Amino acid sequence: MATIRIIDAEEARAAVSDLNEILSDCINGGASVGFMLPFSASDATFYWREVADSVEGGVTILAVAEVEGRIVGTVQVGLASKPNQPHRGDLMKLLVHRSARGLGLSRLLMEAVELEAVRRGRSLLVLDTATGSDAEKIYPRFGWERVGVIPDYAMWPQGGFCGTTLFYKRLA
Ligand SMILES: CC(C)(COP(=O)(O)OP(=O)(O)OC[C@H]1O[C@@H](n2cnc3c(N)ncnc32)[C@H](O)[C@@H]1OP(=O)(O)O)[C@@H](O)C(=O)NCCC(=O)NCCS
Repeated sequence: MATIRIIDAEEARAAVSDLNEILSDCINGGASVGFMLPFSASDATFYWREVADSVEGGVTILAVAEVEGRIVGTVQVGLASKPNQPHRGDLMKLLVHRSARGLGLSRLLMEAVELEAVRRGRSLLVLDTATGSDAEKIYPRFGWERVGVIPDYAMWPQGGFCGTTLFYKRLA
């Protein structure tokens, strides 16, 4: 049975070890999520501390999925801060540990974070994800609209260019 929670900065700092493990597992599994191989735990620690700081600053929503007391999935929404985009957010880093995939956790995480985004006054979310990845296939199942592909946008963790596919979703 999974528990999905929106966490604050203190909880995020306490969760760094589990979050490191998830990020590292996804990158070592070939996900193009901002980092290259080899990817160390210390790289991950620096990253999650920055995320916790941005949660504290009120500019990031951070959700986690727990199974049997361990955090095995996570997702973020960055709240756009430009004065002309008070209604928009950037969905980022939907990550589920390989040991916990196929259980429906990403759907639950997305539902939770979208609800929280609405609560924070957001009515439009955007995201980009590696073209050809598993993640690209799932966003349409969650009601996201595919916009198009930018070729050679980033790199796979082991090297080589990958495109990015842009999506958006209007929230109720
Ligand atoms: C993408 C990812 C988050 C999916 O997590 P998950 O918890 O295994 O997904 P779920 O079990 O919630 O499945 C969600 C839906 O997608 C479908 N799905 C899951 N994996 C799929 C795949 N490889 N191909 C096609 N559909 C898939 C499921 O059937 C389910 O559909 P349904 O709810 O309509 O029945 C996970 O594979 C992952 O962490 N990948 C690496 C990181 C990454 O690339 N993240 C994206 C960053 S933008």
